[in-house]
Amino acid sequence: MNYRHRFHAGNVADVFKHWVLVQVLETLRAKDTPFCVIDTHAGSGLYRLKPPGEFEHGIGRLWPVRAEWPALASYFERIQAYNNGGLRAYPGSPLIIADLLRVQDRAVFVERQPEECTALRDNLRGRPRIAVHEADGLAMLGALLPPPENRGLVLIDPPYEAANEFVNVAAALPPALRRWRNGQYLIWYPIKARRPVEQLHAAVAALEPEAMAIELLTLPEDVPQRLNGSGLILINPPWRLRESLEQILPGLAEFLAGPGGTPRVRLISLHDS
Ligand SMILES: C[S@@+](CC[C@H](N)C(=O)[O-])C[C@H]1O[C@@H](n2cnc3c(N)ncnc32)[C@H](O)[C@@H]1O
Repeated sequence: MNYRHRFHAGNVADVFKHWVLVQVLETLRAKDTPFCVIDTHAGSGLYRLKPPGEFEHGIGRLWPVRAEWPALASYFERIQAYNNGGLRAYPGSPLIIADLLRVQDRAVFVERQPEECTALRDNLRGRPRIAVHEADGLAMLGALLPPPENRGLVLIDPPYEAANEFVNVAAALPPALRRWRNGQYLIWYPIKARRPVEQLHAAVAALEPEAMAIELLTLPEDVPQRLNGSGLILINPPWRLRESLEQILPGLAEFLAGPGGTPRVRLISLHDS
């Protein structure tokens, strides 16, 4: 498997994921007590944007009209930090997270591919309170949880190239939650075929944490092999996040789907029935 996020950086799924990530980090920053962020599938951290590319349907579409989207302003600020003038670079989750740490906070990044991990170390060079591991992100959770801060977020963002990736994520969650029940978890997944998604939702519901899934689609779900949209599972979500997702995401989906597109947003409460 040799997934490279640079082909996808800044696409619709990244905009959705990173906007929600910024929202979660901002709620963590609202209290002075330290927090820790663990990013299990970190990528290289910074990507060059050059057309043609998937970003043209995502951040490329939003960037020229960003003034019309004040609710996304703090997300746009994270991107502005890497762009003087035109839109040429896109920060991945590690730089977004690193930029939002305060002196008392900490982050741990895990990336399995050696080349991506080397690039990530370069992109984070000189930053304090950061650890980078070249390892399997889900396997590392046993050693990393619970963080001593006992406050923070685990971001799980695998490439889903392997057929068993949904199953691996579902299997990693029970031990992770046993170790760190009150941590927040943000889990990204692609929406192609419906069945693996439903199985992952059921696995989370069976754990009985407070959890929800939010899905943003810009294409009809009639091609099970295509990325029709993406979803985020939020375990122990910040208070009032649901409200802001409900307010902003339908309009964002409509805009990103473009004229004649098929925008849809679904908010799903995950609890065992
Ligand atoms: C979707 S990308 C991550 C993007 C990044 N989280 C972001 O938002 O900017 C997935 C990354 O996981 C890495 N990866 C694949 N399998 C892994 C594993 N078992 N453990 C850790 N990283 C892995 C890939 O090399 C790739 O860089």
